[in-house]
Amino acid sequence: MKQKESIKILGIETSCDETSVAIVENGVRILSNIVSSQMEIHKRFGGVVPEVASRRHVEHITLVIEEALEEAKVTMADIDAIAVTKGPGLVGALLIGVAAAKAIAFAHGIPLIGVHHIAGHIYANRFVQEFAFPLLTLVVSGGHTELVLMKEHGEYEILGETRDDAAGEAYDKVARALQLPYPGGPHIDRLAQQGEASIPFPRAWLEADTYDFSFSGLKSAVLNYVHNHEQKGTSVVIEDVAASFQQSVIDVLVGKTLRAAHEYGVKQVLLAGGVAANQALRQQLTLACAEKSIPLVIPPFSLCTDNAAMIAGAGYISFQKGRKDSMSLNAYPGLELS
Ligand code: KG4
Ligand code: ZN
Repeated sequence: MKQKESIKILGIETSCDETSVAIVENGVRILSNIVSSQMEIHKRFGGVVPEVASRRHVEHITLVIEEALEEAKVTMADIDAIAVTKGPGLVGALLIGVAAAKAIAFAHGIPLIGVHHIAGHIYANRFVQEFAFPLLTLVVSGGHTELVLMKEHGEYEILGETRDDAAGEAYDKVARALQLPYPGGPHIDRLAQQGEASIPFPRAWLEADTYDFSFSGLKSAVLNYVHNHEQKGTSVVIEDVAASFQQSVIDVLVGKTLRAAHEYGVKQVLLAGGVAANQALRQQLTLACAEKSIPLVIPPFSLCTDNAAMIAGAGYISFQKGRKDSMSLNAYPGLELS
């Protein structure tokens, strides 16, 4: 039988505070990628409130699906499969996407594909450049900090991961101590550009041979620094605190990524996750990879934070490999990547 030339996948992402639906052709061409963010709602609570997130996903999912189809100028009859984030994430939020995906797949008699959220973040890079294996991804999001080795599509080996806070989590907690709005990452990013990395915060390299990360010690050091100044009644230069904290994070992220890239002789380094939007991280990783002549791929800002195009992109690989899910697909809040 002749292979169909155009495979269109409808992707759904609802793992946290973004309701997103996308239509992607052949895993690499984005026809639409609608992201309805709840950030403004959660801001006043200083973080994502799970119950509020679930309810908002319920209210918006159908509208966002319709908008994604409309913008892509397709109908459900053109869709070949549904890809949905099955985990990790907030269980109540994930369930809304999974239930919607199952309903559509069942109603239209098309395959259902559950996708790991981090696989999605990694595949956001494939909209920029085709993968060359082996490749290494530095995953830095609100919930994850990982170095992931891939020798082929859809296969993930975790070389190292955080032992405590994720990079994005550390950004958000430090931002909170500096009384910046949620999510704090973009604010630290902006302030750091105006400051100097003059405060000697620690760098957690851990044991010489590990690719694991740890950010809780750094976070505590920053919080102590701020509290000490508060107690003494002296002011801190918030821009310098942001720049110094950020430099401690970036030194370790870039250092370990380059060491792993060299050890495993990778053909590409990819950057993935919400913190991949960070200006200084993008710049410094670009410089470090250029120095060692290692090709680096970084997604555009719009594809760094949570979106459904990346889920459809990763789902396309499963579709090609014949990895489909049954109607018993569930939401898995603590799902492992490898
Ligand atoms: O990947 P993501 O959208 O959600 C998760 O899957 O966790 O990542 C969100 C995280 C938040 O912690 C946010 O503060 C951080 O990414 N972030 C940034 C920047 N933009 C978003 N961190 C540093 N600099 C940024 N520009
Ligand atoms: Zn994410």
